[in-house]
Amino acid sequence: MARRHLTGLLAGGALLLAVPAAAAVDGRALLEERCASCHDLTGPAPTTVEGVWSRKGPDLFYAGLKYRRDWLVRWLQRPTRIRPAGVYYGNHLRVDAEGHDRVDEASLVRHLALTREEAEAAADALMRLRAKSELVRPGAYQPGRISLSMGDLMFGKFKGCIACHRIEPGYGGLSGPEVYTAWARLNPDWVISFMRNPQAWDPRSLMPRLPLKERDLQRFVHYFKALYEDLQQRGEEEGDHD
Ligand code: HEC
Ligand code: HEC
Repeated sequence: MARRHLTGLLAGGALLLAVPAAAAVDGRALLEERCASCHDLTGPAPTTVEGVWSRKGPDLFYAGLKYRRDWLVRWLQRPTRIRPAGVYYGNHLRVDAEGHDRVDEASLVRHLALTREEAEAAADALMRLRAKSELVRPGAYQPGRISLSMGDLMFGKFKGCIACHRIEPGYGGLSGPEVYTAWARLNPDWVISFMRNPQAWDPRSLMPRLPLKERDLQRFVHYFKALYEDLQQRGEEEGDHD
């Protein structure tokens, strides 16, 4: 946030800008210094398998298209886990004695947290990262509704998405990001574009490109909204579950 303000008019009519009271946080510099070691801020996404294995955090070079700013500001102050098995699940899943996948919690680290002022500045800088904007059509998502039971069927039985995504804390697959906070986190127009073709965003994305109709894409976003509203009603807001 710009902290400069006008001090007033001088006799000669010249305007003077006050020196900022406290040095404002430089969001871009903060990203370079404290985030770039784990997050790609410039792109392009890795094209080799090795590149995917060694990725330490999700790519952020299109953060301004992907996230909602208010979510970034909140999450950066109080980060929670979004991907139960980290950025690349192969590094964090173990098969237990019964043959079930288990998350190796000890191998996952807590995300750093920022102060309110830092989070605001970082969010502003992130919102300016907009590579691949040609893939997102503003207004692509058309508000609407779907019942939770119909959404569950689509996400589960019909399309099999639940194999990789959790639809409520502790329920669903482990390799992808939880979707019950997706509505609060993500720009719906970006979500439509990503689901249509994940590899256009990330050539090595582990999310398969599924043959989804336009109507299905819309319905999935309605479903994410319904999941989030349901979560809130049950008082399990983001942050209470890691
Ligand atoms: C030590 C490595 C590391 C550093 C340093 C780091 N991050 Fe992260 N970040 C991660 C990992 C790992 C995740 C995935 C967490 C998850 O999904 O549970 C993540 C997730 C995120 C997300 C959510 C992305 C998503 O789509 O899931 C944002 C936003 C983010 N980081 C921003 C930042 C910012 C801003 C900084 C610097 C102030 C930063 N990170 C520093 C590793 C790091
Ligand atoms: C084989 C596992 C798998 C399946 C099946 C799958 N996904 Fe994903 N999905 C992923 C992974 C992994 C990511 C994270 C991708 C990335 O960051 O590149 C992802 C990302 C997403 C995202 C972006 C979420 C975010 O927080 O960034 C959405 C939305 C999504 N998937 C919806 C779906 C829908 C809808 C289906 C079913 C039609 C589906 N997925 C099926 C693995 C999967």
